[in-house]
Amino acid sequence: MSNNRKQFETEAIRTQMERSQYLEHSSPIYLTSSFVFEDAEDMRASFAEEKERNIYSRYSNPNSSEFIDKVCKMEGAESGFAFASGMAAVYSTLAALLNSGDHVISSSSIFGSTHTLFTQFFPKWNITTSFFDANDLASIENLIQPNSKILYAESPTNPGVDVLDLEVLGNIAKKHGLIFIVDNCFASPYLQQPIKFGADLVIHSGTKLMDGQGRVLAGITVGGNKLMDKVYRFSRITGPALSPFNAWVLSRSLETLAIRVDRHCSNALQLATFLENHPKIAWVKYPFLKSHPQYEVAKKQMKAGGCVVAFEVKGGLDAGRKFFDSIELLSLSANLGDSRSIVTHPASTTHSKLSKAEREAVGITDGMVRISVGLEHIDDIIADIDQALG
Ligand SMILES: Cc1ncc(COP(=O)(O)O)c(C=O)c1O
Repeated sequence: MSNNRKQFETEAIRTQMERSQYLEHSSPIYLTSSFVFEDAEDMRASFAEEKERNIYSRYSNPNSSEFIDKVCKMEGAESGFAFASGMAAVYSTLAALLNSGDHVISSSSIFGSTHTLFTQFFPKWNITTSFFDANDLASIENLIQPNSKILYAESPTNPGVDVLDLEVLGNIAKKHGLIFIVDNCFASPYLQQPIKFGADLVIHSGTKLMDGQGRVLAGITVGGNKLMDKVYRFSRITGPALSPFNAWVLSRSLETLAIRVDRHCSNALQLATFLENHPKIAWVKYPFLKSHPQYEVAKKQMKAGGCVVAFEVKGGLDAGRKFFDSIELLSLSANLGDSRSIVTHPASTTHSKLSKAEREAVGITDGMVRISVGLEHIDDIIADIDQALG
């Protein structure tokens, strides 16, 4: 067989660890905390990193490596590290690269816990952050300081599904020598590969579309060897590694990522179109709706619009509460990217640690509803939402 790169779906299925002596077809789980050495010299050389091999599962494990190899191929990255959660990936990646006195420039429209990390925890280590408006990328250059090190963004954003032009961000980062990091979990590597647009590192919460069935927490960071080596050295010491069992679950899930995400996206677009024409809806946002302010950018950098639709029910908080209490089929939960459709109220859940002013600055109104559109039949998803609005 030739070594040519295969299509996304093929790599997702055929990237596999070496078979064991049992010649299994599907990869086994290596539930082991450590690995054995042939002799004293093997042990010394392994710890001296003269050999590439598994030593201890906090550093590497065949199941994590298989998961990482798949994501690297999907994202066009050289190497990666797998974490126990998306936030472990966000924290460890930033902590590995930042020193006391450094400055971060971040989109203000980011996941609530990431925002809290920047505003409440990094200042403890004299790391400061300036935020830019996701809809005003021209303002970024005014925020750059001599100690700026990282440009950080999500696209589409959580929960407002704003879309940021990754090519514009990549060019700014390159011009000013910033490390450009993208949290790509709303798109998944199937819909968008930020490295193509200049990202140095790409982070995912594997808990979302990668797992796709709401079973495991996971995170991953991938990128070029030089930066990833720093992330790896920090992480093998501090211990946020993904468990082999969860890595095995995720690697199996990635085999069906493309086919699942295609259906998530077609269901989400149909729901967004239905809501756009509904008399009880004040506004609806979905990247692949023509009415989305960055529709053209979304078309340029994404294959489809993703699984999340944001909207507001007319009548504000009270109407929103009534809507949530009337939902029958969909789940009231805080996750997303699950096969089960999920309705969330960001102001009281995922973004509750932000002040009201911080929420309003990024468009998270008290009445905003976020729906992660799942894989149930679209007619049943729409029927439940329609009856809850009624
Ligand atoms: C955009 C984004 N990044 C990171 C995370 C954190 O992931 P985890 O919950 O796996 O720690 C989330 C979780 O919702 C998210 O939506």
